[in-house]
Amino acid sequence: MTIPPETTLHLDALSVGYGARTVIDSLSLPPFRGGEITALIGPNAAGKTTLLRALAGLHPARGALRLGDADLLRLDGAAHAARVSYMPQALPQRVALTVFEATLSALRASPSARPDARAAQALVGETLDALGIGALAFRSLDQLSGGQRQLASLAQSVVRRPSVLLLDEPTSALDLNYQFRVMHLVQSIVRARGIIAVVVLHDVALACRWCQRIVILSDGQVVADGPPAEAITPDTLARVYSVHARVEACSRGAVQVMVDGILADGPPSCSGDVMPPRSS
Ligand SMILES: Nc1ncnc2c1ncn2[C@@H]1O[C@H](COP(=O)(O)OP(=O)(O)O)[C@@H](O)[C@H]1O
Ligand SMILES: [Mg+2]
Repeated sequence: MTIPPETTLHLDALSVGYGARTVIDSLSLPPFRGGEITALIGPNAAGKTTLLRALAGLHPARGALRLGDADLLRLDGAAHAARVSYMPQALPQRVALTVFEATLSALRASPSARPDARAAQALVGETLDALGIGALAFRSLDQLSGGQRQLASLAQSVVRRPSVLLLDEPTSALDLNYQFRVMHLVQSIVRARGIIAVVVLHDVALACRWCQRIVILSDGQVVADGPPAEAITPDTLARVYSVHARVEACSRGAVQVMVDGILADGPPSCSGDVMPPRSS
């Protein structure tokens, strides 16, 4: 499904929680736009996965969530899944399908993309090749390494050609080569198809390198939202991660982050709270 670039994902006063506990409390953000990759970053337990699962329709939410004219909170599971694809952070360990079979069944499960058998097989082959895992096509998922399984899971998400691609820590188990490969593939399909991508990343430098927008979530609240150079500052990193960090531009202008120490506690502006970096 190719969506026009002007299609946006709106969330307004969105609340998500578990039982009586609210994790995301009335969150509103400027719309996510087609053709853009947004990084969702923030400390552990900030609510990133909870938010992504709500956007994917896998967890109930209150408030407003619209994709173009579609009210996502009122769509049934299949209709929601046809538009929004979610790659989970925790991948199933014991799946005896091959990489090819799993990717093909993800494609077949998508009501929006039902090519004939030959075209479907070709599309699966192309997707696996683009991710550099063509050679793993006939390996069983339960015999892959964590990083290989992550790539196979990503193949299942992107092969469905969603309008919105939600990736929860897609690079956490990947080496530098595959981190680049994955982010490059995501960038290519996001640009070519006008897809809206929201990607949870812990690697701030990777987020700055590949994402046009960074949303920093802490304790269910948005602490910063903007282009990397605006969102990633020593002040926001101190507030969110309690670290003393330098933010500098590399020789190509990309934002680089160097962590020099940890703020013991208290307000980051207190210079006395900074543990100085160890001299080596
Ligand atoms: N199934 C669950 N039941 C109850 N609380 C949960 C559940 N999953 C996550 N939480 C809680 O919600 C908060 C946010 O978790 P999560 O969204 O997974 O954070 P993140 O992805 O940013 O690390 C945490 O405090 C976590 O303990
Ligand atoms: Mg998470």
